[in-house]
Amino acid sequence: MTKYELPKLPYDFGALEPVISGQIMELHYTKHHQTYVNKLNEALEKYHEAEKKKEIAEMIALQSAIKFNGGGHVNHSIFWTNLAPVSKGGGDHPKGELAKAIKENFGSLDELIEKLSAKSVAIQGSGWGWLGYDKSKSELVIATCANQDPLSTLGYVPLLGIDVWEHAYYLQYKNVRADYVKNIWKIVNWHNVEERFLRAQ
Ligand SMILES: [Fe+2]
Repeated sequence: MTKYELPKLPYDFGALEPVISGQIMELHYTKHHQTYVNKLNEALEKYHEAEKKKEIAEMIALQSAIKFNGGGHVNHSIFWTNLAPVSKGGGDHPKGELAKAIKENFGSLDELIEKLSAKSVAIQGSGWGWLGYDKSKSELVIATCANQDPLSTLGYVPLLGIDVWEHAYYLQYKNVRADYVKNIWKIVNWHNVEERFLRAQ
């Protein structure tokens, strides 16, 4: 059976400072993301046992744990690569096809940033703000998901995610989620977002 593993972080814990502190990054990656991976593996193992025994009710009962922890693993794996230290291109402008699509769909990068920031800040409780791609309409979309629901549950391909769980910012920004979201644009890895966009098309 496939065992999921924590993906390698593409930079050091302190590399996103001062936007995200090294302490937050270390806890977020080694504790939070690792726990999603562990619990996903546990739930999948139980699921396969239940499947062997044809225990359909048990299989159904395990689905929410698979969705939550599997979503947590998928979302964080994208999130780490969506960010980059300023010295490695974090906060540069989108280029090429992605820049063109942003202009077509939102008018400008500033408009996109404003809309996605507002939606992410307004999420009640824990969740994620997303820039995604709607394959059926061939357009970029802004969406939000509660908890760890992956963007695929809405039918979109995830391109850029903003984790607005308190564990992502509270140690540094306290209750001021808006400041965290405002600052995160300084470390967005648009090159990674563009790669995801090109693959999605
Ligand atoms: Fe998180």
